[in-house]
Amino acid sequence: MDLNLKDKVVILTGATGGIGSAIARAFAAEGAKLAISSTRQEKLDKLIPTLGIDEDHVRGFVCDATKEEQVKAFVDGAKEAFGTIDIVIANAGYEGKMSPIAAQSTEEFAKVYTLNVYSPMWLMKYAAPTLQEKKHGSIVVLASAGSYTPTALMGAYVSSKYAVAGLTKCIAQELMPEGITCNYICPGPVDTDMMRRIEHDAVGDTMTHEEAMAMFAGTALDKRYATPEEVANAVLVMSSDITAHTTGMGFNLDAIVPAH
Ligand SMILES: NC(=O)c1ccc[n+]([C@@H]2O[C@H](COP(=O)([O-])OP(=O)(O)OC[C@H]3O[C@@H](n4cnc5c(N)ncnc54)[C@H](OP(=O)(O)O)[C@@H]3O)[C@@H](O)[C@H]2O)c1
Repeated sequence: MDLNLKDKVVILTGATGGIGSAIARAFAAEGAKLAISSTRQEKLDKLIPTLGIDEDHVRGFVCDATKEEQVKAFVDGAKEAFGTIDIVIANAGYEGKMSPIAAQSTEEFAKVYTLNVYSPMWLMKYAAPTLQEKKHGSIVVLASAGSYTPTALMGAYVSSKYAVAGLTKCIAQELMPEGITCNYICPGPVDTDMMRRIEHDAVGDTMTHEEAMAMFAGTALDKRYATPEEVANAVLVMSSDITAHTTGMGFNLDAIVPAH
């Protein structure tokens, strides 16, 4: 099936991370034009040559997505580089440190919310007018199985993913009459550095990675983490016109039967 993504202009945050780099590779393979961001130029310099696309199809931007003015500069720079924007992917995210509520640090809680909730909001805020002018486009937000599954000690991360799912649904209501879809992806554990950090935070050195993975994937029907490529495939489908009549939806990838 042709997803018709060739030469579509994609903006993507967190492009050098586990899921972000898989998303960048997947769009590159479809011939899309990529405006990708990272907090570090050297990470972009390492990723870009591996994407296998012409120089005129990719631009890297250094952007701390917890700063509104840097998100705006990223969106403006992407539009200047490629003339337009078709697809917006809010992927950058931070899991926070596990904490009992009585010990929750306000600073850490705010750090999680700034990247996981405010940053997608700013990305949509500054990119939406371009999609609205065209009366066409798609927005995909990396939410989580945590957007509908509570987890003890992960109140900051999980509630931020509930929040960003709600935000995405509201923006979907607003933008669908203008031809713009807005959906979110809900993976359970994915095999990236983020899961390694969560494993370490939860069990320290008391388990091997394999043992921790068996525990975290224990509720998945197939008893494994998702691969970043499986997440990227879902992002591509929800970005394409194949799902042009679907909006405000969470695409669950966790292979778990939800409790509700
Ligand atoms: N892994 C999982 O199990 C899982 C499950 C469900 C949902 N998710 C969601 O999927 C998304 C990607 O996660 P991942 O697993 O790929 O994590 P990852 O490998 O740790 O990558 C996280 C990305 O976020 C970026 N980032 C961190 N702080 C940033 C900041 N201040 N400004 C801009 N970017 C920043 C990093 O950019 P740089 O390194 O370039 O600075 C990195 O590319 C996140 O939203 C996460 O919540 C992950």
